[in-house]
Amino acid sequence: MTSRDEMRRIAAESIAQGDVTGWFERFYQRAAGDWDQVPWADRRPNPYLVAWLRTFGAAPIRKRCLVVGCGLGDDAEALASAGFDVIAFDISATAIDAARRRFPRSGVDYVVADVLQPPPAWAAAFDLIFEAFTLQALPPAPRHAAIGSIAGLVAPGGRVFVLCRARDADDPIGELPWPLTREELALFEAAGLRATTVEIVLDDETPPVRRFRAFFDRMEP
Ligand SMILES: C[S@@+](CC[C@H](N)C(=O)[O-])C[C@H]1O[C@@H](n2cnc3c(N)ncnc32)[C@H](O)[C@@H]1O
Repeated sequence: MTSRDEMRRIAAESIAQGDVTGWFERFYQRAAGDWDQVPWADRRPNPYLVAWLRTFGAAPIRKRCLVVGCGLGDDAEALASAGFDVIAFDISATAIDAARRRFPRSGVDYVVADVLQPPPAWAAAFDLIFEAFTLQALPPAPRHAAIGSIAGLVAPGGRVFVLCRARDADDPIGELPWPLTREELALFEAAGLRATTVEIVLDDETPPVRRFRAFFDRMEP
């Protein structure tokens, strides 16, 4: 059984018991530090994030950034290196502990938190929120709640950068990770943000995976 099959088995068991997020911590624990057993833990910053950060002329000074479902921390570290003040959170205490150990001199504030119940102090507090591949790991109801929750954390003038698998509305939902539709991404707009980019990109996997690369902005009042 591959680690992806095992992930699907553990996730299905947990979700069948009504626990849609508890399996992440169990899955990280089960890997016992062998991160090759965690399919998404490639221990390099996301290439789409890296490409976007290259478009910044000078480092952003004191821009507040939140990384959703940060896993082992590589994206958070890339954002901090680009000059953002970064808080990075994950529901898995094991992932957060691993991120802190991997980057002991980091300026990133690594926090255990649930995107479905974020700390009240985070409301409308961030200039940039980076979300890669967490939404696609949640079933529809918590996924849609998470989109509303993330939107509520964006400061006026701030933006959300979303990366996720993509499908058309009439495509089968398929297996975990479950691709999102344009209609689901539009929930960021229903939550008060404006879509500035929603594009499909093909990555370099074999075969290539269709993903959304999207930005949603909160207008200044
Ligand atoms: C598929 S992984 C993606 C990790 C990382 N963003 C990446 O791109 O490699 C999803 C991550 O989201 C975390 N996660 C899942 N549900 C969450 C929730 N409700 N709140 C915060 N983090 C969550 C998981 O523990 C996991 O680290």
